[in-house]
Amino acid sequence: MSKLNGKVAVVTGATSGMGLDTAKLFLEHGAKVVLTGRSQEKLDAAAKDLTGDFLLVPAEASSTADSKNLIAKTVEKFGKIDILFLNAGIFRMEPLGNLTEEIYDEVMNVNVKGPIFTANEAVDSLNDGGSVIFNTSILNVKGFPAMTAYAASKAALRSVTKTFAAELGGRNIRVNAISPGPIDTPIYGKHNVPQDQINEMAGSFPAMVPLGRFGAGKEIATVALFLASDDSSFINGAEIPVDGGFAQV
Ligand SMILES: NC(=O)c1ccc[n+]([C@@H]2O[C@H](COP(=O)([O-])OP(=O)(O)OC[C@H]3O[C@@H](n4cnc5c(N)ncnc54)[C@H](OP(=O)(O)O)[C@@H]3O)[C@@H](O)[C@H]2O)c1
Repeated sequence: MSKLNGKVAVVTGATSGMGLDTAKLFLEHGAKVVLTGRSQEKLDAAAKDLTGDFLLVPAEASSTADSKNLIAKTVEKFGKIDILFLNAGIFRMEPLGNLTEEIYDEVMNVNVKGPIFTANEAVDSLNDGGSVIFNTSILNVKGFPAMTAYAASKAALRSVTKTFAAELGGRNIRVNAISPGPIDTPIYGKHNVPQDQINEMAGSFPAMVPLGRFGAGKEIATVALFLASDDSSFINGAEIPVDGGFAQV
């Protein structure tokens, strides 16, 4: 069944992981999808697996100029926007004492400033009845060493979800967040986390999850589809954990 027939969806950070899985699922459900990522090469590689009506727009998440261009390109190609999945994000780990202003700024600019200003740019182009979805993290309610900047960035998005929900409710635009637990995506290998720490995390996370495993990107995509579609028509301002019980028990 096509749950998003004719809808226009923008998925940021759609070259890999949860964003790519979500873009694929949205396309399968009849949406027209705009995918972003940092480089055209990665977007082209991701697009090889896609079928349907889609547009690739390179956009640096922390750049307000790129957000403006993203929304302009989307409107030019597809008209108004129904679904905004603000998913692009980076992961950084630095123990206290090693945290630098540079890392803090990078994390906050990509993970917080990016989604806020993309939504700010998109708001006049959103159809009434639309759906905005943020991708946060269960680390915004749990304490883990070395996660200061990352966890704070996702806590900020939890707050933004509620503010936007209050502000856009009058237009019947719902604003919610997905809060993933440990999900098996390329994110851990991409950034400043040393391989031995990645291995340690990979070994210890499943034991902390009542379901005993990492989640899959597709298990986020199905929740994004739920929040994007009318199936969730009375859910607003919520943050839905998708974490195998990690932060719930
Ligand atoms: N994996 C987890 O366990 C987990 C848990 C909780 C929350 N999350 C959140 O889930 C979201 C998706 O992450 P993922 O695990 O699917 O990781 P991923 O596979 O690394 O995907 C991240 C996406 O964001 C894009 N991106 C990163 N930095 C960007 C920037 N500065 N400008 C534009 N695009 C940028 C990446 O594009 P490139 O191709 O350019 O890298 C990629 O498309 C993130 O917000 C992350 O914080 C992840």
